[in-house]
Amino acid sequence: MFSFSNNDLFAPRCVWVNGPVIVGAGPSGLAVAAGLKEHGVPFVVLEKADCIASLWKIRTYDRLKLHLPKHFCQLPEFPFPENYPEYPTKKQFIDYLESYAKKFDINPQFNECVESAKYDEACRLWRVKTVSTNGGAYTGSEVEYLCQWLVVATGENAEPVVPEIEGLREFKGEVLHACDYKSGESFRGKKVVVVGCGNSGMEVCLDLCNYDAKPSMVVRSSVHVLPRELLGKSTFELAMLMLKWLPLWLVDKVLLVLAWMILGNIEKYGLKRPSVGPLELKNTQGNTPVLDIGAIEKIRSREIQVVPGIKKFSSSVVELVNGEKLEIDSVILATGYRSNVLYWLQESEFFTKNGIPKAPFPNGWKGKSGLYAVGFTRRGLSGASADAMKIAKDIGKIWKDDLRKKQKVTTHRRCISTF
Ligand SMILES: Cc1cc2nc3c(=O)[nH]c(=O)nc-3n(C[C@H](O)[C@H](O)[C@H](O)COP(=O)(O)OP(=O)(O)OC[C@H]3O[C@@H](n4cnc5c(N)ncnc54)[C@H](O)[C@@H]3O)c2cc1C
Ligand SMILES: NC(=O)c1ccc[n+]([C@@H]2O[C@H](COP(=O)([O-])OP(=O)(O)OC[C@H]3O[C@@H](n4cnc5c(N)ncnc54)[C@H](OP(=O)(O)O)[C@@H]3O)[C@@H](O)[C@H]2O)c1
Repeated sequence: MFSFSNNDLFAPRCVWVNGPVIVGAGPSGLAVAAGLKEHGVPFVVLEKADCIASLWKIRTYDRLKLHLPKHFCQLPEFPFPENYPEYPTKKQFIDYLESYAKKFDINPQFNECVESAKYDEACRLWRVKTVSTNGGAYTGSEVEYLCQWLVVATGENAEPVVPEIEGLREFKGEVLHACDYKSGESFRGKKVVVVGCGNSGMEVCLDLCNYDAKPSMVVRSSVHVLPRELLGKSTFELAMLMLKWLPLWLVDKVLLVLAWMILGNIEKYGLKRPSVGPLELKNTQGNTPVLDIGAIEKIRSREIQVVPGIKKFSSSVVELVNGEKLEIDSVILATGYRSNVLYWLQESEFFTKNGIPKAPFPNGWKGKSGLYAVGFTRRGLSGASADAMKIAKDIGKIWKDDLRKKQKVTTHRRCISTF
């Protein structure tokens, strides 16, 4: 009779993958998988969560909508439904991604967290080790995948950035990162410090206002805020249009003048603008400008207080760098995200120590020895789609060439055997 002991259960399995291994089933991983399907290349997608698009399903707040018009956010070969609004909601985007996975018949292996990946020079293969995270009997069980190509699709926003701030551990109220914030419902009437003024910080503050909480937003340096729309067009779309004719520095100037005409002088509310223009800053440092959807109005009406950097926390108080002390109930860290590639990919040529490809866009999608990266362009979903198409085409070509070579050898052998 067949039986196995606990030891058998946890012994690492070794699996040969005929095709690439894609790490991550977010929009980037799904887009590469769809492209590979179109090129007839088999693949395996490994996903540590129990669903596709875990960032969108598990780690974002309820009121989230896409910031850019839908045609900039669609994945290759599959437009958004026509009845979707210009800026789809989080739920609509998730439904779209589910339909995408269904259309291209993408079935990731869920609850498999990639713990390490290394290129084995001797056998010229990638060794990708996973640990099961399903919470059941198989939790902790390990699998090693061997493959010719490795596609890194774990995202620029894989881990929350949680800064060390003096006294934060002694703070008695609730402390959470924006990735765990869902809505302002549980913050009604509370005084909340929101650390960070990126898109997350601004939108969390706006949401808190809508639930009658009292947010103070910490702005420690500077930030570009642009209206989501200018002259009846999406600001992003307008910028892309202008870039076809004008140099980047001039487009930046035009954007800032138009933003000033609509939002007024935001510096008087404590929102200092960086000395470098919004597009140049995005291109050189990856800092996304805030696309305002109502927070500035709440700042103007003082429903959102803008405060300078934090000196330290104590049990119920935050002390700011200007010496001001605020009694507060909760802290929300809207302090951003980082890549997790450096924790698992044993490679130092292609990725920086921050887990982002060293070569800037459009050259950061292909490394050596069958290594690829998708979704690290700091250009959101449109950047991910562009990378995905290049990767699928590249692997598809090698796959077909290999197939042709194998067929030639077989035909040659058959010819020899008939003589
Ligand atoms: C709040 C928020 C709102 C955003 N809104 C927009 C927007 O409107 N428009 C836009 O273009 N961009 C937006 N972005 C940027 C967004 O991250 C990307 O557009 C998109 O989600 C990137 O897709 P991705 O597949 O590259 O990464 P992700 O969506 O992060 O997917 C990566 C996947 O990899 C999995 N994974 C990570 N590590 C491992 C591992 N070791 N083993 C196995 N699986 C792993 C994760 O669980 C995840 O499912 C937003 C980001 C945030 C945080
Ligand atoms: N609707 C949407 O589409 C939407 C919504 C939310 C987010 N996003 C996207 O998601 C990505 C992440 O955005 P994000 O806003 O979460 O992160 P982010 O853009 O990286 O912003 C992080 C903010 O936290 C601040 N910060 C970090 N550490 C701090 C500290 N110790 N003290 C004080 N301030 C600190 C930063 O200030 P400094 O600048 O001084 O470092 C910055 O203001 C972006 O690409 C964004 O566009 C999109």
